[in-house]
Amino acid sequence: MGILIPVASGKGGVGKTVFTANLGARLAQTGKTVVLVDLDLGGANLHTCLGVRNRYPGVGSIVWKKEKSLEALVVPTGMDRLFLVPGDNLLPGTANLEFFTKRRIIKELLELTADYVLVDLGAGASYNVIDFWLMAPDGLLVTVPEIPAILNAYSFLKTAAFRLLFRSFTKGSDERARIVDFVVNRVEGQGDTFLRFAERLADGGGERGAKAMAELARLRPRVVVNMGLGESDMAIAQRLREISARNLGIGMEYISYIMRDELVSQSVAERALLSVARPDAAFARGVSAAAERILRAPAASAPGLEMDDEDLSAAVELALQESIEDMPRY
Ligand SMILES: Nc1ncnc2c1ncn2[C@@H]1O[C@H](COP(=O)(O)OP(=O)(O)O)[C@@H](O)[C@H]1O
Ligand SMILES: [Mg+2]
Repeated sequence: MGILIPVASGKGGVGKTVFTANLGARLAQTGKTVVLVDLDLGGANLHTCLGVRNRYPGVGSIVWKKEKSLEALVVPTGMDRLFLVPGDNLLPGTANLEFFTKRRIIKELLELTADYVLVDLGAGASYNVIDFWLMAPDGLLVTVPEIPAILNAYSFLKTAAFRLLFRSFTKGSDERARIVDFVVNRVEGQGDTFLRFAERLADGGGERGAKAMAELARLRPRVVVNMGLGESDMAIAQRLREISARNLGIGMEYISYIMRDELVSQSVAERALLSVARPDAAFARGVSAAAERILRAPAASAPGLEMDDEDLSAAVELALQESIEDMPRY
């Protein structure tokens, strides 16, 4: 069983896949065994960044029950100690997997033989993505330092926070009903923040309430700012940190700031890993910094959450993703 690192982003096109592939390569270079898993069910392309041809069965084989074990889908990448479970373009971004399929994939991910299992997730805050991202309390979140991407990153964290709270209580519980009610009936821009609401809910929620707050406090996303342009990026990254702490009670760790680097698209076009070909490139140095932080971090156990087929309704999902009212106005 390896250390699971799910990688998400609120928005697509922020460099999540290129980053994940290069991070895997960097960790493999330090002697670790790494399995990269492409769980971007709508836009699987991790193999492209690795220069691996897409002729192997992928995660879809598990979804369609053709294959029982994820381990059987592991293929070499051509680089020592770096392996891949290819993806499949199975679903449009919003479709949700059946909960038992999700549960099976999570179980299989935990059983992969490796030091690190890096999971490239689809963009956005659908439950497919959020539930996989919540496999670890310190999942990675990639963003670029631009307002739309930062708003999406915040929105992602907020959806994750609600999801964690929801899954801390049992199916059909009064607490779950109150969470749905809060999201649906809340007047935007007024009333309690998520954090205040969660505290009140937990207060009356006995042991489970206390546990929910403990899991929330343990949530410590590791954020990567990619495609940076310079010093002005710091202010916006700082805002994300402040607003997440204040409204969501989520403390984050910035693990790398990576500059925009023209060599990245060139390396993708050449199907080569920049971290391997040009370790001196700005992008590769940013990836190395993240790898060093990851190597130093202690392994954290997964949040103990309920796993069942009860989702917050689609309406709630939509409301959460649209509500950016408590972000600062720019
Ligand atoms: N630091 C960077 N500088 C310049 N271009 C980058 C950088 N990071 C990623 N890119 C480019 O951004 C595009 C999207 O990258 P990708 O990894 O596919 O994004 P995502 O997985 O988030 O959708 C690619 O063309 C890639 O070359
Ligand atoms: Mg991608």
